[in-house]
Amino acid sequence: MKERNVIVNELFNRDILVDPEVVDYIIENGGTLYLEEFIKKFGHLGYIAKEDVLSDTSNIDRANPGVMSAPENTGGKEVDHNGKILNKEHTKPPNKVENMDSSLELEKSKKVRVIGSSTPKWDFKVIMDASKNMCASGSADDFTKLFLDRYRRISAMIARKVMMKGATSIDRMREGEVKIVGMIMDIRTTQKGKIIFELEDPTGRIKCLYSGKEILLKDEVIGVIGTYRRGKDIVYVNEIVKPDVAWSRKNRKIKEEIGVAIISDVHVGSKTFLDRKWKKFLEWLKGNEDGARSIEYLIIAGDLVDGIGVYPNQEEELEILDIFEQYEALAEYLKEIPDRIKAIMIPGNHDIVRVAEPQPAIPESIQKMFDSHSEFLSNPSVFSIHGYKFLTYHGASLNNLVELIPGMDYTNTGKMMEYMLRVRHLSPVYGEKVPVVPLPRDFLVIEDTPDVLVTGHVHTFSYDIYKGIHLINASTWQEQTKYQKMMNFNPDPAKVAILWLNRDEVQVKRF
Ligand SMILES: [Fe+2]
Repeated sequence: MKERNVIVNELFNRDILVDPEVVDYIIENGGTLYLEEFIKKFGHLGYIAKEDVLSDTSNIDRANPGVMSAPENTGGKEVDHNGKILNKEHTKPPNKVENMDSSLELEKSKKVRVIGSSTPKWDFKVIMDASKNMCASGSADDFTKLFLDRYRRISAMIARKVMMKGATSIDRMREGEVKIVGMIMDIRTTQKGKIIFELEDPTGRIKCLYSGKEILLKDEVIGVIGTYRRGKDIVYVNEIVKPDVAWSRKNRKIKEEIGVAIISDVHVGSKTFLDRKWKKFLEWLKGNEDGARSIEYLIIAGDLVDGIGVYPNQEEELEILDIFEQYEALAEYLKEIPDRIKAIMIPGNHDIVRVAEPQPAIPESIQKMFDSHSEFLSNPSVFSIHGYKFLTYHGASLNNLVELIPGMDYTNTGKMMEYMLRVRHLSPVYGEKVPVVPLPRDFLVIEDTPDVLVTGHVHTFSYDIYKGIHLINASTWQEQTKYQKMMNFNPDPAKVAILWLNRDEVQVKRF
């Protein structure tokens, strides 16, 4: 499809009408690669006249789509349209948090609670919760929209990079050096170790050949710098550009001593639930050993209960056979934790909501069982605690990545979490072991650089750091199941990661 038609269709689908000159303006500034930026900037107008864009072109560098000339206070560095210094490999970590996607800034709740004369104050904000955006008919058109949304948002991140200056769409490539951004369709490695893949953008497809070393997965959105040979209809790739994340904020420590305890996969209701260790953990929260009295938040990254019918013959391994009673039991446990602690919970594949991602928060009828100091969000979700931005995802895609990325196993989960950040997607490969709901927005795209990425699901524990971002694959409270025994898999249960916001350090405690 011609780029102009792609742009017009997309604007129409978003209920945006424009003058024909505005389409020219979009094409001049990078076409489909600039479209997402354009919609963010002008979409709220509904009808966009040429005067609207022409009156706002003072600092756009037309030779460099999506990039503006640097204002004086950036020290000459290039910035994007928000005034944010662009990410370069050797750029120092930014001191300020990145702007969040305004369309998703929900600020669902910022609760402040005072107990007696000594605080504690909860500073908790929801930034992204997919629970309210769950309508899809499952048609082919819905899947197209999902993939287009993924492409648009990740390609905009890539197009902003300095090395992608002059990027073009596939249908506008000319013989010689080209820069394009696309989604990887088919991919294979030749006997000589070269990678052949097909790259697709909204205007077309092109075969690419890469002789270097790089891990590339189907459905990833990447930038390609190479040489286009029209006769062979192929791009010989010199460089692959991944979106990657910016350095996390350096000066994010807070003054007050506040700890965030992070766990996952409680699996209440299972015969293999580690009841004794769990109670020891709850008792520890009530005391002050290791400064436990300063813990004011508890994150549980899914699989709150063991569920019913999740796998064949599960009932043989269940202590509590009714899923509502499983949640009631968890609610009773959590009532024991001190009132100063806010519990934040997302669902996992064992919970009562649908398995396909994104998963909504558990239903309100179940939420009512819990104390008012509980928060229920979608899987995945983004929230901030005293300014620390947490991206929390149960982690089903780890089952895909462990098989698709060479050299991975469940003892190096941090490497897979790092991969998610590098490709800016929590579940980079569509499908496989992860069912997906085809919503018009891809909620698994990593929109902003988090301070902390939390996963669970695989019942191991790991803690790593990537570009200043804490990567915590949280531990379980279930001992080895029969299935795991058969698979010769040994879980690493009953560990709690505590992130101290005043020290920006993670402490690990085993129970
Ligand atoms: Fe689990």
